[in-house]
Amino acid sequence: MRTIALMNLKGGVAKTTTTVNVAAILARDHEKRVLVVDADSQCNATEFLADDDLQSGTLADLLRDEDIRIKRYVVPTKLDNVDLLPGSEELMDLDLTKVETSDVRVSHLQELVSGFERLGQYDFCLIDCPPAFSAASAAALLAANEVLIPIKLDAFSLRGMTNLLCQIDNMRAINPALRLLGCLPTMWYPCARTIQAERTLLLYDLPVLHHIRRTDKVDDMTYAQRPLIESSPRSAAAVDYRAFVRQLLRGGASDG
Ligand SMILES: Nc1ncnc2c1ncn2[C@@H]1O[C@H](COP(=O)(O)OP(=O)(O)O)[C@@H](O)[C@H]1O
Ligand SMILES: [Mg+2]
Repeated sequence: MRTIALMNLKGGVAKTTTTVNVAAILARDHEKRVLVVDADSQCNATEFLADDDLQSGTLADLLRDEDIRIKRYVVPTKLDNVDLLPGSEELMDLDLTKVETSDVRVSHLQELVSGFERLGQYDFCLIDCPPAFSAASAAALLAANEVLIPIKLDAFSLRGMTNLLCQIDNMRAINPALRLLGCLPTMWYPCARTIQAERTLLLYDLPVLHHIRRTDKVDDMTYAQRPLIESSPRSAAAVDYRAFVRQLLRGGASDG
């Protein structure tokens, strides 16, 4: 099972958009079984994917429970072959600085993921991280074997990269298996500045993956609550997400 944390300390860079669309494409086009973990207290992935009468434990419960029973936390979604470990507002209360003294166990997500791996239940686990380094993101980086960095190509995001890479590097001390899959430029549009910014990214010595073009169809998708391959299958972003998923299935190398 490939467990991928989608991480950026900035909000609004398409972490959630990427999580739900990649999950949908893996499941529908490639018949993969996918678990989405919503690690953000804003719960956008949960709202997007979950059926209305959501009844299960959440990631916050998992990180606080004494003992974990893996079936308790995962629910089916509107999408075939995509299950969800929901987020909740309570994730906001799980302060990383208090982890040492509180009963929050960041390793519980790793234990859950390992349990599913032993059962052979999923091919992919995608973790939608919050835009901050919190207990939930620490849990994500501990559970993951790969990190994907969705990035919007503006100067603020580029400046945030050094800090982000530093945080990920710190996590390698406790999870040496963690591999950087690369940066995924999102909301891409053709102009000299964007193309220059993509070149700047290469200086970080990370693979720069298949960029996702900017299109209003993505905002439409958030209202339609259906992934792009259903709501706007011919849109530029749907085409690009499909190309990115093919790249991901080839291992994620920078092969265009
Ligand atoms: N390719 C795209 N083109 C246009 N808008 C996009 C694209 N990807 C994401 N967006 C929009 O950007 C906003 C932030 O996306 P979101 O996935 O919520 O970011 P994050 O999870 O990183 O905070 C949303 O309004 C979304 O509709
Ligand atoms: Mg989000």
